Amino acid sequence: MQIWPHKHIHTLANFSIQDYKSVFELAKRFDALKNAGTKRIPALQGALVTSLFFEASTRTKNSFELAAKRLSADVQTFAPSSSSLTKGETIIDTAITYSAMGADTLVIRHSSSYITFEIAKKLDAINSKTSVLNAGDGLHSHPSQGLLDIYTLIKFFSKKSLSPEVLNSKKILIIGDVNHSRVARSNLWALSAFGADVILCGPKTLISDEFNNFLTTPTPNQLEDPVKTRGSITICRSLEESIKIADAVIVLRIQKERMIGNLLSSIDSYSLNYGLTREKLSLNSKEIPILHPGPINRDIEISSELVDQYPNCLINDQVKNGIPIRMALLYLLNKSTVT
Ligand code: CP
Repeated sequence: MQIWPHKHIHTLANFSIQDYKSVFELAKRFDALKNAGTKRIPALQGALVTSLFFEASTRTKNSFELAAKRLSADVQTFAPSSSSLTKGETIIDTAITYSAMGADTLVIRHSSSYITFEIAKKLDAINSKTSVLNAGDGLHSHPSQGLLDIYTLIKFFSKKSLSPEVLNSKKILIIGDVNHSRVARSNLWALSAFGADVILCGPKTLISDEFNNFLTTPTPNQLEDPVKTRGSITICRSLEESIKIADAVIVLRIQKERMIGNLLSSIDSYSLNYGLTREKLSLNSKEIPILHPGPINRDIEISSELVDQYPNCLINDQVKNGIPIRMALLYLLNKSTVT
């Protein structure tokens, strides 16, 4: 029996190897049940999962809500525009209100980095039993995305049984706007935990040199690193050079709202240099897997041809795998033990 050690989930920086394995093992079991035709199980009957999304989301919000329903939990959905936020209620008071209604888990997305720590601290201070699960906070962290991304890669590379060790020494190329990406930060923690060597590729305005030291630069509320040995991070400014040696590629969304006039001369020049196309991919002799957390900007960071026709484009697998991964996270926060 494994004891789940976290009341709240804020960041993969605090995940041990055993934590990852507990999530993957459970996700695999939920996957198997679904494949055998069992869509709903009574595991969290009577539990209340509340989704507090203060920022837009298609994948994460709906997949957490579906995951909760598949575990038979009650699901409560908060809509900011019709809530008392519009009357001046604070985010923290909103969270306290839902906790008082009996929420067992608050799944929270917000544009402010580290806000989930603040909410959890406040809830703990009033002896609330409610758990906080970060569904994306500012630029900081998106743990469920990081988990589903590496689960997708592990499934792709594993021959028979699911084995996270297959990531050891794999070269995983992340292309694009790493500076603004909470997904990239979560991927860096998750991939490096299993010994992957990550190559970050993009212009200096989107990937600062400081990312060379990302794994050893503490962020607020980070515990001592529970992973003894991690893989590496290197930065390469040339897509042509880095694609040649990659075993897998994760393409990031270009955040157009932050780009023009500030960080890039134009979207077209970005696409020319860093947009992933069949032609650039063919510099690699293998049919390497392509991931993208979504939403995608077609023909900007990735060509429509790759999205629609490349056999190892795993974008839809990522979406599919998000459900058992989020079921596992909700289960672990609510049950604390895995047998
Ligand atoms: N990947 C991701 O977080 O997508 P959504 O914004 O649609 O949830």
